[in-house]
This record gives sequence, structure tokens and C-alpha cells, in this order.
Amino acid sequence: MRVLGIETTCDETAAAVVASGDDGRGVILSNEVFSQIAEHAGYGGVVPEIAARAHVEAIDRLIARALRAADVTLDQVDGIAAAAGPGLIGGLLVGLTTAKTLALVARKPLIAVNHLEAHALTPRLTDEVAFPYLLLLASGGHTQLVAVRGVGDHIRLGTTIDDALGEAFDKVAKLLGLAYPGGPEVEREARRGDPERFALPRPMMGRPKPDFSLSGLKTALRIEAEKVAPLTGTDIADLCAGFQAAVVDVIEDRTRVALRDFRERVGRPTALVAAGGVAANGAIRDALARLAGEAGLRLVAPPLPLCGDNGAIIAWAGLERLRLGLTDDMTAAARPRWPL
Ligand code: KG4
Ligand code: ZN
Repeated sequence: MRVLGIETTCDETAAAVVASGDDGRGVILSNEVFSQIAEHAGYGGVVPEIAARAHVEAIDRLIARALRAADVTLDQVDGIAAAAGPGLIGGLLVGLTTAKTLALVARKPLIAVNHLEAHALTPRLTDEVAFPYLLLLASGGHTQLVAVRGVGDHIRLGTTIDDALGEAFDKVAKLLGLAYPGGPEVEREARRGDPERFALPRPMMGRPKPDFSLSGLKTALRIEAEKVAPLTGTDIADLCAGFQAAVVDVIEDRTRVALRDFRERVGRPTALVAAGGVAANGAIRDALARLAGEAGLRLVAPPLPLCGDNGAIIAWAGLERLRLGLTDDMTAAARPRWPL
């Protein structure tokens, strides 16, 4: 079974072909990503209108490239999947309309994929991970702790009440004059900084429900930065280190609470899974590995290139749905908001 996957929810235009392997996992036959980062860099964030236009310009070329690299024609794929949400409406319409057109012309099943579910199912593409597992999904737009019981069967245990984790990294980076996207920049600066120089809060730590709140931490950091401005290189590194240390503490605490909830509501998880762009962060991964070890679980984190947004995760989620007969018709709508 082979599925073509299309991703256009945010600032990456991507297409990929994924096949089902013998062991239940997937085989990535191609994975073409065009990042619009350069187009949005001057604005310190993604500009929806620019993103939508860039998707239109890139999508056909990327699909052609993905098919060619996988050495298959459209006739040889078994389904066409597109991320139908959540995300920016302009991009969603580009990706979903393209997928519908291809599905109609080639007479293939259409699969409208939830982008969050695609992140949630990614560990099953690369590892043999059985349901149920606890997922920490942390990206630029989303922060969720989810009990993944099966395809289309999730319980959201916790979420953020304000900024997403990746968004907080991006905002802190912007505040400190670092480049976008901010996560990798903050992590790099943090490596040479002193995490204890600035006393920053750990919002929500100790609360019984595993929710997050990040805007207070960001504000606290801004106040500390203003106190020492103009900022030197050392100040920036120390602020990044302090921020990252606070985030790591919060993630560890919130995930521990989610594990407890999981055991009460679902039973024993097979693994702790970290997905989304923020899962690329080494300090966060280390903390989660420690926590998983404590709980006698294995930590599964998809390989770095699959942590971010790409077509392969959409193709894989499409494949998981297709083999259960979960396909969609031409009435499938783009859904800017689509919680798991
Ligand atoms: O999953 P993703 O590629 O896109 C979506 O938001 O769906 O996640 C991108 C986010 C950005 O906010 C970026 O700053 C963050 O992930 N990120 C990181 C790191 N690498 C990327 N955050 C912290 N540390 C990193 N190393
Ligand atoms: Zn994503």
C-alpha cells in the first residue's frame, strides 16, 4: 500500500510517498519539503497571506518531485492524503483542494488527515509502537498531552491555556533579537548560558491537571531582560538558559502528572512519545528520557527530520486510516480549528 501525503498547514509546503512495510511500520519512499522560513523571516513569524500564496506556487512542483523521487506514478498510489487542519485556512485550502483534484482525476480514495493526529502517529511510522501510548505533542501551534488509544481514538489529558511551547520559544527569541524559528536559536544560546542567573517562574507546576501556561514565563523573561538592557551576548545566553531550564522543569512536571492520569483513565502506556518541532530540543528530550526511565517506559521520539512538519507524517496518517477503511469524500472541509 502506498499513499501520497500533502502538508500545507503552516509555513512548509510538503509532499511525500509512504508505503506500508512488512512489519507494520512505514517505508518513506520520498519526502519533499519546501520551507518558507526565508519568506517569513523578516516578520518574526508566519504571515498567513504570504504563506497561502507560497503554497500555491510550490505545491504542484513538490508533488511531482515526490512522485518522481518515489519512482511511482499517481496511478500507482492507493490513496491521497492531505492535512485538512488544524492550521491556516489559506494553506489548508491549497493542500486539500489539490488532493481532492488528484483523487478525482486518478480515482483514488481521499483521506483528510488531522495534522495533530499525523504528529501523534509518527512514532508508529519509524518504530514498532503499539497503542495505547502517552504523547507529548509540542509544536509552534500546539501543546498537548494526549492518551493515544488508537487511530482516531484519543483523550486529551492536558493542553496550554495560552501560548504553545514552540510559540513561547519563538517569542522569546524575537524578544532577544534572535532569528525565527526561535527554538533552535534559543537552544544553541542556552548551551553556553548560566540557567541560574535569572530567577524565572515555573508556571502551573504542581497543579493537579496537566495543563501548561507559558505567557507568564515569557513576561517574566521580558522584565528580567529589560532590567539588564542593553543586552550583551552573555545576557542573551543566560536568559535563554534560564528560559529553557524553566520550560524543561515544567514539561517534566506536567508529563509526570499526565502519566498518572493516563494510568487512572486508560491503563498502562506502552511508551512515552515526544513529537512536534519542540521535541527536537535536546534538553527536553533528556528530561523526558529521565522521566520515562523512572516510570519504566521507553521514550520514543521520531528522528529529528520527522519531528517537524513534512509530507511523510501526513502520508503515514493517511495510510493508517486507509487500511482501516477510514476515507473521506469530496465534502471534506478544511478545518482551521480541529482539536484531537
Ligand atoms: O512541528 P513544527 O515543525 O511545526 C508546527 O508548529 O506544527 O514545530 C515548529 C516549532 C517552532 O515553534 C520552533 O521554534 C520549535 O518547533 N522548535 C524548537 C526546536 N526546534 C524547533 N523548540 C525548541 N527547541 C528546538 N530545538
Ligand atoms: Zn506540526
